[in-house]
Amino acid sequence: MQRIILDTDTAGDDTIAIMMAMRAKGARLEGITINCGNIDFDQEVENALYTIEVAGESGKVPVYPGARHPLLKEWRTVEDIHGTDGMGNSMFPRARQRPERKHAVDAIIDAINESPGEITLVEIAPMTNVALALRKDPGIAKKVKEFYFMGGANQYLGNVTPAAEFNIWVDPDAASIVLNSGMPITMVGWEIVMRHGLIGVPELEEIERMKTKESEFYLAVNRQVRKFMEIERGIDGTSCPDSITMAIVLNPEVATETRDRFVEVDAGDGISRGVTWVDELGALKKKPNVRVVYQASQQAFRRMLYEMLRGGRV
Ligand code: BDR
Ligand code: CA
Repeated sequence: MQRIILDTDTAGDDTIAIMMAMRAKGARLEGITINCGNIDFDQEVENALYTIEVAGESGKVPVYPGARHPLLKEWRTVEDIHGTDGMGNSMFPRARQRPERKHAVDAIIDAINESPGEITLVEIAPMTNVALALRKDPGIAKKVKEFYFMGGANQYLGNVTPAAEFNIWVDPDAASIVLNSGMPITMVGWEIVMRHGLIGVPELEEIERMKTKESEFYLAVNRQVRKFMEIERGIDGTSCPDSITMAIVLNPEVATETRDRFVEVDAGDGISRGVTWVDELGALKKKPNVRVVYQASQQAFRRMLYEMLRGGRV
């Protein structure tokens, strides 16, 4: 049984990744930690709690608030993409479950130390909490089973600046610490989302026909994303960065090609801030530090997503 701690800046597709982890046959979601990122921090906490309630798991998965700011510099939130509440302007009611008192950084450190070699840490947000955990207790790098992250882009366009992807751009200093930590790391970049993790009109129509609480939730939390994609990107559909990452964590068949590469983050202040440089040619002569996902199965991902949205287990 895979044991997962998930770090999220809960908005839009983060909720679907959370739900997928809770519906996994072969995994247990043991804790959710919250990082600054998409929207107002307290609202991110509420969104995680509400998602747990929608999944029918209220009180079963603890939520630990963490870093409210990146390590060194401020960032901008993206309500324009996810809605003011991060949930497509759904304005859902407050969940019954409340957040834990324990800080996310301590929750990560304790979970890994209590079960060396067993915890899979999944990152679908900026990496501030994980970097702070590594700084507070560097020993966890050797004890974590695996670290997966959604972020960066491999020789591809960015989505928040010309070249940078949002999760890395928010806190490149943290990402740099994490990528150089020695943990076994897998990267799912923005190009994987654009190539294999888009949900278009026929798929959205199929989801509309499902009429389950999960499918209605999916459509609601993605409402604003769909508008944004159409107006800003000319794509009628939604994107699934965090849920395709979770699908890769849960099901090895979703990542169809990976390569071990040296990856470095630009944490400077210029136009390339937040860019992930994947050394494809080995030009830097550095030991690979990341297993980079190069291809994924759109079909396998969609099968899992649909199964979950129909109320099934994945
Ligand atoms: C990532 O940025 C956020 O807006 C999403 O939640 C996702 O984790 C995509 O670049
Ligand atoms: Ca996210």
